Amino acid sequence: MNILLTHAAQLLTLRGDRGWPEPRRGAQLRELGIIEDGAVLIAGGKVVAAGKTDEVARQELATNVEEIDCSHNVVLPGFVDSHTHPAFTAPRLIDFEKRIAGATYEEIAAAGGGIRASLGGVRESSQDELASHIVGALNEMADHGTATAEAKTGYGLNLEAEIKSLVAIRQAAEQWPGTVVPTLLGAHVVPPEYRENPDEYVRVVCETMIPAAAEHSLADFVDVFCERGAFTMEQARQILGCAVEHGLGVRAHVCQLAPAALEPLLAFNPASLDHMDFVSDEDIAILAKTDTVATLLPAANYFLGLASFPPARKLIDAGVAVALATDYNPGTAPTASMPFVLSLACTHMQMSPAEAITAATYNGACALRLQDRKGSLEPGKDADIAIFDADDYRELAYWFGVNRCRGTLLRGIRH
Ligand code: NIG
Ligand code: FE
Repeated sequence: MNILLTHAAQLLTLRGDRGWPEPRRGAQLRELGIIEDGAVLIAGGKVVAAGKTDEVARQELATNVEEIDCSHNVVLPGFVDSHTHPAFTAPRLIDFEKRIAGATYEEIAAAGGGIRASLGGVRESSQDELASHIVGALNEMADHGTATAEAKTGYGLNLEAEIKSLVAIRQAAEQWPGTVVPTLLGAHVVPPEYRENPDEYVRVVCETMIPAAAEHSLADFVDVFCERGAFTMEQARQILGCAVEHGLGVRAHVCQLAPAALEPLLAFNPASLDHMDFVSDEDIAILAKTDTVATLLPAANYFLGLASFPPARKLIDAGVAVALATDYNPGTAPTASMPFVLSLACTHMQMSPAEAITAATYNGACALRLQDRKGSLEPGKDADIAIFDADDYRELAYWFGVNRCRGTLLRGIRH
């Protein structure tokens, strides 16, 4: 049956003036396309109309519908969480306590904790167990308004366990009505077996993992953690170059812990560069001229107890396309909540609530190159919709530590 959402206090359409292809920058980030007393008509999992309730309700397809009264609700495109690591099996509570006692993320990783501490669980678990953990994470995301999630591997770190993780992501995606974008992150860190010979591990990634992922269409993107303690810029270039040769999209974790020049990565036209805490002013100016999205992940800063956050204001004011995502993972960001990320963006990064919402929806879609289907509520787009108990969109970033998401539609299916 068709669905009609009616009487939204505010419907945020995020519709664009000039069609869809471009990520939003500068002042465009503040345009939410707000309609008061708004309605959305949905048929076949797609948006048919979005506008004033009295106009939309007059449409022919609006007869014999399931009506959802959205009075005192803000209705917006489902969040696009464009950076998550859900393919793990257990929380890292020892790391958590060590950090509380004063150790840093890098010190814990150097002592054998960190990403390497998640390997055993993934290598030993069955594909079904892994898939069921991932479905749990996806459902938790949808509870908080997310309709599209990127999902990285990166806790297997050998051919068998990385491919098992990708297949588990696909299995989970088949059980969840939302949209999942799989990413191979075989280059998360160098696993212990290759500690003495990291280049040999890069060869394993390039010669076995990437070809297998491409051949079986298991991944849309390849990611690399380009950082001290993980992979060098030269190794990252080899990995991304190999991904491009195999027809896969590319993205990278970069400038999370230390500065790095971005030009070698930009040569591969990455869909996004993520974290970006230590991006330089020169690279901000270069990025502003590209369609590569800077995906900021402030939940990681929060959870690591850092005093500084990614430089959102500088990036936005310079014209860089900025997105926000959770970074859902067991080491630095155990949260599935995009509303919490909105709160952090506003309270710690001086983003306005409107900028944060665009960064979490439309620009998140751009970071996954899905803006033709996701990120705004316009006829023909997927009916991915979040409904919040609020009269004003600013409340989405205002309340924190509680979940005000009343419901989520995933391609027209009620979560
Ligand atoms: O994005 N930076 C690398 N990857 C994750 C952390 C993963 C982990 O510690 O398990 C991040 O913060
Ligand atoms: Fe990450």
